[in-house]
Amino acid sequence: MTDRTIIYGGTGGIGSEIARALARAGRAVHLVARDGGRLAALGAEIGCGVTEGDVTDPATFDRVVQDVGDSPVAGLVYAVGTITLKPLARLTDADYLSDFTLNALGAARAVRAHLPAMQRAASGASVVLFSSVAARQGFANHASIAMAKGAVEGLVLSLGAELAPKVRVNAVAPSLTDTPLAAGMTSNEAMVKAIAGLHALPRIGTPVDIAGLAVFLLGEGASWITGQVIGVDGGRSTLRTKG
Ligand SMILES: NC(=O)c1ccc[n+]([C@@H]2O[C@H](COP(=O)([O-])OP(=O)(O)OC[C@H]3O[C@@H](n4cnc5c(N)ncnc54)[C@H](OP(=O)(O)O)[C@@H]3O)[C@@H](O)[C@H]2O)c1
Repeated sequence: MTDRTIIYGGTGGIGSEIARALARAGRAVHLVARDGGRLAALGAEIGCGVTEGDVTDPATFDRVVQDVGDSPVAGLVYAVGTITLKPLARLTDADYLSDFTLNALGAARAVRAHLPAMQRAASGASVVLFSSVAARQGFANHASIAMAKGAVEGLVLSLGAELAPKVRVNAVAPSLTDTPLAAGMTSNEAMVKAIAGLHALPRIGTPVDIAGLAVFLLGEGASWITGQVIGVDGGRSTLRTKG
C-alpha cells in the first residue's frame, strides 16, 4: 500500500506548492481544505485524494482518516494559518481563540488523528507544521498571531520528543510570503517594497522558497532532523544590515 502525505491547507499558496512538488517527485498526496471547487481542481490536476472540511470542526479529522483508509501516512503537513494584525486594544478574546484554534489546536488534532497511520509507515513519518518569523522576532500588532505560533513551536518540541524515533516533528517559520493569506499586504506595492527592504536578502518570500524546505523535511535527507523550527525568512529573524 502506498505511503501518503496529507496536506491540511493543501490548496493554499504554500500548501499547493508542496503538493505539486511532492506529486512531481512521485509521492502520493491527500489534500484537505474548505473550498470544494478549488480542492477538486487541484486534486484533478495532480491526481490525488481530497477531503473537504474545516479544521475548526473536530469531525473533519475523522473524515480525513476515513478517506485515507488503511494507507500508511509518511508525511503530514499542517499549512493552515492566519495573519491577524491588530494593536492590543483592538484584539478581542475571539481573535486570540480563533488564531489559537486554526494555527495550533488544529495542528495538534491533525497529528493525533493520523498518528496510528504514521506509526504504520515502514520508514517512519515526518510532520511539518508552520510557525512564523513573528514568533521569535517581536513585531508590533502581532500579539495574537505570535502567541498562536509560539504554541506551534511548543508543540514541535513536545511532540518531537514524545513521538521519536518513529515520527519526526519540525516547523518552517516563514517571513512575509506572497500567498492569498498575505494579500492584504502583498497587494500594496509600496508596502512590499518597504518590507522587502527589512530583509538582509531584500525581497519577500515566494511559495517555492517555503515549499522547498517543507519538502526537504518530509524526505529521507532530513531523517536525522526533528524538534526544529527553521526560518525561511531572508535573514529577517536573525540579521540586521542597517543601523
Ligand atoms: N504567507 C505568509 O506571509 C506567511 C507568513 C508566516 C507564516 N505563514 C504560515 O504558512 C502557512 C500557510 O500559509 P499560506 O500563506 O499558504 O496561506 P493560504 O494561501 O491562505 O492557504 C491557507 C490554506 O488553508 C486552508 N484553510 C484556511 N482555513 C481553513 C479552515 N478553517 N479549515 C480548513 N482549511 C482551511 C485554505 O483553503 P480554504 O480557504 O479553501 O479552506 C488554504 O488551502 C500558515 O500556517 C501560515 O500561518 C504564512
